[in-house]
Amino acid sequence: MIETSPVGGPADQPNFFNAAAVLDTELSPFEVLNLLLGVERKLGRVRSERNGPRTIDLDLLLYDQEVLEAPELTLPHPRLHERRFALAPAAEIAPDWRHPTSGRTVAALLAALPFGEGGRLGLRVLTSPYDTQAQVLQIRRGGQRVALVPTMGALHDGHLSLVRIARQRAEVVVASIFVNPTQFGPQEDFSRYPRTLDADLSALSVAGCDLVFLPAADDIYPPGFSTSVEPPAVAQPLEGVCRPGHFRGVATIVLKLFHLIPAHLACFGQKDYQQLQVIRRMTADLNLPIEIVACPTVREPDGLAMSSRNRYLSPAERQQALSISRALASAAQQVKDGERNAAAIKQQMRNTLAAAGIEKTDYATVADAETLAESNRIEGPAVALIAAFVGTTRLIDNRLLP
Ligand code: PAJ
Repeated sequence: MIETSPVGGPADQPNFFNAAAVLDTELSPFEVLNLLLGVERKLGRVRSERNGPRTIDLDLLLYDQEVLEAPELTLPHPRLHERRFALAPAAEIAPDWRHPTSGRTVAALLAALPFGEGGRLGLRVLTSPYDTQAQVLQIRRGGQRVALVPTMGALHDGHLSLVRIARQRAEVVVASIFVNPTQFGPQEDFSRYPRTLDADLSALSVAGCDLVFLPAADDIYPPGFSTSVEPPAVAQPLEGVCRPGHFRGVATIVLKLFHLIPAHLACFGQKDYQQLQVIRRMTADLNLPIEIVACPTVREPDGLAMSSRNRYLSPAERQQALSISRALASAAQQVKDGERNAAAIKQQMRNTLAAAGIEKTDYATVADAETLAESNRIEGPAVALIAAFVGTTRLIDNRLLP
């Protein structure tokens, strides 16, 4: 099923789910049509009312190779070829079915849909790296701007905000979902990293994403794989110390994604501040022809930065976790009040965390906003960063200092 925003009904309608079914029947097209209309009536649809509630909408798309133009029924459905929300589910169950007037298969019709406004209903999922690259190159040649949003899935509103920002800056939005094994340490949560593909695809579709790249691990890391990106110096402190090899894995997968999805721009969240700086530096250092767009951190109403790992927190831990954003806010307040001594700011952040019962931190510090080098005095643009364990869950957050 594909979820789309509603069309042609009252303004307050919820989203539609679009599905397709193949029927094996001896009924004539008109008999099938009458059955469909009967189901619609039973479920409360009033066809005679213009823009009345659309509880359900049933259409006959194809009937074998029948071509028909009657007042009550046109076959094949006159708009099938331009509707992604009908073609995509149909292509899953009947990809080789030929559309009798165009002679093309359902799968070919789906592949030929243009992106952008008209074709933006629903989502196309691609798994083959080079098919994806070919598609994106074709879109670019058609003159459309392409934005990339790399993710590891388990999507929340933070990820979706990246898709929405991408949407404003490009005609075609491509997201990738790949839980990248090389950026997890041996003791880290790779195998228990949350995987929620169905919910992710439906959320991406509603957020206005056009294409999802969902590669298999073997296609990204072929047997014998041994080349990787040496990350820039900004990868060394902080996460670089606590998670050796992490940014090598991140830089490598992001460079691969930039090759496979040659987008005009890519969106990254400020939530992972050091990652953003690593990617900016790598992009400049390697002359990568892509614009890096930094997107603000999306938070829960109480201030907790959204994260796929928040779902591990118990209700009590969820309360404790709040102290992370509170500690960062207090750091910002101190700087606003004129404090320039990094040690004093760090101490206050630690106190705030400890008061909430968070004892174990990897760091709670202040660093240069570009290089992430730590210094005793805040002189130029700086950022406060925290990595803390709430129970067994490691959370990170940061805040640019005024
Ligand atoms: P992931 O943790 O899934 O995050 C994907 C993107 O969403 C990153 O750019 C991240 O900064 C952003 N993001 C996460 N939480 C956010 C929030 N609360 N507000 C705004 N943006 C948020 O980061 C990765 O995946 C991986 O390292 C990846 C870059 C995909 C490489 O594997």
